[in-house]
Amino acid sequence: MLPISLKGKIAFVAGIGDDQGYGWAIAKSLAEAGATILVGTWAPMMRILTTSINTGKFDESRRLSDGSLMEFAKIYALDVAFDTMGDVPEDIRSNKRYADLTVYTIADVAEAVAKDYGKIDIFIHSIANGPEVSKPLLDTSRKGYLAALSASSYSLVSLLSHFGPHIKEGGAALALTYIASERAIPGYGGGMSSAKAALESDIRTLAWEAGRKWGIRVMAISAGVLPSRAARAIGFTDQMLKYVAANAPLIKELEAKEVGDVAAFLVSPLASAVTGTTLFVDNGMHAMGVAFDSPAFATPS
Ligand SMILES: NC(=O)c1ccc[n+]([C@@H]2O[C@H](COP(=O)([O-])OP(=O)(O)OC[C@H]3O[C@@H](n4cnc5c(N)ncnc54)[C@H](O)[C@@H]3O)[C@@H](O)[C@H]2O)c1
Repeated sequence: MLPISLKGKIAFVAGIGDDQGYGWAIAKSLAEAGATILVGTWAPMMRILTTSINTGKFDESRRLSDGSLMEFAKIYALDVAFDTMGDVPEDIRSNKRYADLTVYTIADVAEAVAKDYGKIDIFIHSIANGPEVSKPLLDTSRKGYLAALSASSYSLVSLLSHFGPHIKEGGAALALTYIASERAIPGYGGGMSSAKAALESDIRTLAWEAGRKWGIRVMAISAGVLPSRAARAIGFTDQMLKYVAANAPLIKELEAKEVGDVAAFLVSPLASAVTGTTLFVDNGMHAMGVAFDSPAFATPS
């Protein structure tokens, strides 16, 4: 038996707002492997996430294979649009969902985690936000495009630069991306395709820089479609799920757990020579060069 053991490791998972997304599934796989889980949740989601956990709403999804419930050792409010408090505009500071939070910028959260737990082992970036995602790229404003890049790509650069000194040598960072970075996917707009392309390019450069500087690995998973809260905001999830079911090499639903388990492998010592790479976990959809269900294939030539 070749086990994935993350016993004694501390993982910070940025991007859990509920039990539907990839962040949750990755946290669960890491917890199954024995890791201690710290969570960074978008500041405006902090109250709803903690209330949902405390009232037992997520108990079924928290259940691990040994019957125990996945625990989050600590949940930090985080807004990756801001590096330091100096960047936070007054209307956000005084917004009722931020006003009672003292710490939520990237620099503050990295410092708080280091103070609370010392060095961590695993960093997960499961965050995307494109305010104009439902607009075609041609109709996207400069502001919307830059906001997508800021929250979805630059956030990894800034998070790694602040967390890097607090990640143990031999540790790993992993981000989530989507194939719209390298293929045109109509409907994935607002500059989100550009943001994912930047993210994947940064994975390679950050692997080099963080590898040399701190001895840590940096990778991405390019995941298939999952009907998460973020994906539902795009509005084409149901069509994409049907398309993939009709055209992917594997005829089965993609479970978030399958992405979580690959993440656990990638950040574990079993993948100690893997860095700078983006791995598809998508039932093989990326390998297809044609849409098999096209009417063009219905009649013999
Ligand atoms: N769902 C899919 O089909 C799919 C496919 C491929 C890749 N991905 C990627 O997986 C990752 C997770 O997305 P998901 O689909 O699981 O949805 P999700 O809604 O569970 O996760 C996105 C998270 O980002 C958080 N977030 C948004 N803006 C933020 C900010 N400014 N500061 C801090 N947190 C912020 C949200 O609160 C949310 O928790 C994203 O990078 C996404 O692009 C998703």
